[in-house]
Amino acid sequence: MTPRILFEHLNEKNIQKLDTYREKGGYTAAQRAIGKMTPQQVTQTVIDSGLRGRGGAGFPTGKKWSFIPKNEPMTYLLCNGDESEPGTFKDRVLMEQLPHSVLEGIMIGSYAIGCHRAYIYIRGEFTDSIASLEEALQECYEAKFLGKNIFGTSYSLDISVFKGAGAYICGEETGLISSLEGFKGWPKIKPPFPAIAGFNRKPTIINNVETLAAVPWILNHGAEAYRKMGTEQSPGTKLFCLSGPVKNPGTYELPLGFPLKDLIFEVGGGLLEGLKLKAVIPGGASAKILTAEEALETNLSYEDCQKKGTMLGSGGVMVIPHTQCMVDLLGVVTYFFKDESCGQCTPCREGTGWMEKIVQSILHNRGRPQDIALLLGISQNMQGGRTICALADAAAWPVESYVQKFKNEFEYHINHRRCNLHVQ
Ligand SMILES: Cc1cc2nc3c(=O)[nH]c(=O)nc-3n(C[C@H](O)[C@H](O)[C@H](O)COP(=O)(O)O)c2cc1C
Ligand code: SF4
Repeated sequence: MTPRILFEHLNEKNIQKLDTYREKGGYTAAQRAIGKMTPQQVTQTVIDSGLRGRGGAGFPTGKKWSFIPKNEPMTYLLCNGDESEPGTFKDRVLMEQLPHSVLEGIMIGSYAIGCHRAYIYIRGEFTDSIASLEEALQECYEAKFLGKNIFGTSYSLDISVFKGAGAYICGEETGLISSLEGFKGWPKIKPPFPAIAGFNRKPTIINNVETLAAVPWILNHGAEAYRKMGTEQSPGTKLFCLSGPVKNPGTYELPLGFPLKDLIFEVGGGLLEGLKLKAVIPGGASAKILTAEEALETNLSYEDCQKKGTMLGSGGVMVIPHTQCMVDLLGVVTYFFKDESCGQCTPCREGTGWMEKIVQSILHNRGRPQDIALLLGISQNMQGGRTICALADAAAWPVESYVQKFKNEFEYHINHRRCNLHVQ
């Protein structure tokens, strides 16, 4: 039986409503934490649980909270609901279907870092998520679960929703802060890190929606119970977004370390009739691609994906069938990153543009033999911390991995001036 933490009450009728959420034990964790535990005890529980951030990088959540300087009068917690990584559709499920679990996580996180003002930054196109969270917020204010002296304690907290405008870069934490401050969503050079000088130059914690939604369960059941699921280095469960031509695509909660093969062939029911597995993108479009052979022996944990030279990222698992031309696929991916680069850094602005142009020329049969080395050279020059944010690395990884692992398809396009899969 697969454990359910985040999705425990997903199919409960009216679980979006405060009354139903409370009937199912909702807000007991917040009441347990606020006023009854010290902020340090709450943070320590989250540190002990080993919870790692679900926004992509997997940074330990409790440790991040502990970076907030002590006795700061003004701190902020920003819940990142931008969810722009291609292939990722998990935070929206939480925001739409389980808004109170997201709010309860924000309350506990805010209390732990001594914050009295939190924001949920939601991608603007997510109108259902926005409506659901706004309704849940209104219910909380009416029930005096938010505002002044919540749960009858001396602790006060205000939370509001902020609508983004659908830019990928606004999901990057410092881009998100710029956008929330009313500026263009441009990332900022670190240091200073947001925990020291973030929103309005005040200490700020940014956490992903899924990260925060896991916190109430941890407070209710304890760090040890959480650690019983998943692996030593990747405790707990995670939401995986399975897409591509599989029989049962969807968002699934699974223990970390779950075999990728079983996600595709058991949970996902396997590929549609007549299709064979060619490759898998395990963690959103930024993750390096795995060949079918690699994918079949990969487990979905932070450490196992890293060992396989890729990353768990956002948990956006995209299944690629044998009928897919990899040059064509890379054309879509490079277009995305070129379009979303904010343009502040030369390697990213120029690199994403050149990679897209070169892939398009190979795809449209104007490629030259030297283009393969050129693509790899450009991608190398974009990696390793040469830019303000990690979008440049995220754009370079797919290029490097598609070209290295499916080089024959790129060469075929260049040498035969057509695709080896489709007659053009
Ligand atoms: C280009 C780029 C886009 C990102 N987009 C998102 C996003 O949509 N949602 C998200 O939670 N994190 C995103 N991140 C990661 C955030 O910068 C940040 O690490 C995360 O929100 C921290 O939360 P966590 O510690 O709970 O994972 C992105 C990072 C980069 C470099
Ligand atoms: S790496 Fe790219 S997206 Fe990030 S700040 Fe630089 S130009 Fe903008």
